[in-house]
Amino acid sequence: MIKIAAVGCGGIQNEHYRHLSAIHDVKLVGHCDIDRARAEDAANQYGGDAFIDYEAMYDKVKPHAVYISVPPFAHSGMEEAAAARSIHLFIEKPIGWDCTAAKRIGAAIKRADIITSVGYCWRYYDTVAKAREVLRGKAVSLIRGAWNGDMPGVWWWRRMDKSGGQVNEQTTHIFDLARYLCGDVAEVYAAGATGCQTHVENYTVHDSSVVTLRMKSGAAGVITSSCVASHHGDVGLEIVTPEATVSIRFGKLTVHEDGTVTEYSPKVNIYGEEDRAFIEAVRTGKRTKIKSSFADAQKTFAVTCAANESMRSGLPVKP
Ligand SMILES: NC(=O)c1ccc[n+]([C@@H]2O[C@H](COP(=O)([O-])OP(=O)(O)OC[C@H]3O[C@@H](n4cnc5c(N)ncnc54)[C@H](O)[C@@H]3O)[C@@H](O)[C@H]2O)c1
Repeated sequence: MIKIAAVGCGGIQNEHYRHLSAIHDVKLVGHCDIDRARAEDAANQYGGDAFIDYEAMYDKVKPHAVYISVPPFAHSGMEEAAAARSIHLFIEKPIGWDCTAAKRIGAAIKRADIITSVGYCWRYYDTVAKAREVLRGKAVSLIRGAWNGDMPGVWWWRRMDKSGGQVNEQTTHIFDLARYLCGDVAEVYAAGATGCQTHVENYTVHDSSVVTLRMKSGAAGVITSSCVASHHGDVGLEIVTPEATVSIRFGKLTVHEDGTVTEYSPKVNIYGEEDRAFIEAVRTGKRTKIKSSFADAQKTFAVTCAANESMRSGLPVKP
């Protein structure tokens, strides 16, 4: 029996609970949230005990692995405390909001040599696997990505010092997908826009931004973000090569190649896929199905930190 606990029992953890509770040898043993009612709701629905203190939970229920599903600003010791007890970690993206905590967590994970998985769920689309296959051997020239939509309702999202802004909190999926399909980023140069959300209280993030990318491969890219695009959104990534143009929007893949257009719709639930991959790794010790380790997620985080730094300084920044 694989014993799983969670720190943070809000929106996304409830999605993970649904998939975890359907895996035959998984037992949900502990739920920790600073909002006790949320931890108790989870315990009532899925079994196990409720906690407000993660160390007390780790020591009492002794989980094999823990899901960390807290907002970016709240990564405040729960990963290091798990690593010190050799508890494996599934961590929701993004891994933080500034570089200091992420570096500390990375060092603790390395020392403990535990299994990690970060919730870059787009990597688990069957259509993304197909896109990788189509792109194999082709030289990427242009990358064009976007997360243009409206503003999520959770209170912490609109605070730069809590979420790290949209680039870090949401568009990180698109930056990560660009890295997964096109390789690493050499340099970013970014500009942010403000002034359209003056009616929103406690609002310190950009309304929109543009991040240009110089990839290590030599490709050029541009990724936009907007949380004021409530009338017409666009979430996805387009990759241009001389032989084919590949685009992924909300998981749907379109391939333009040899004068034909082929569309592929996703057939999997990406959260279920990433949860089963992580549990299999905990069960067998084999990490091969995990598509985003903490060490890899640190590279995506470095890109979004560099983009925020470039918006602050007006200068190009190397991640
Ligand atoms: N992969 C995805 O598609 C996806 C989707 C949604 C959210 N997320 C990520 O998941 C994380 C959480 O987002 P959410 O939408 O579930 O937020 P949420 O606000 O709904 O839930 C977060 C929970 O964490 C709890 N919490 C905060 N600080 C805590 C602490 N120190 N100890 C214990 N509990 C604490 C809060 O009380 C809350 O219940 C964010 O980083 C977000 O980016 C990922």
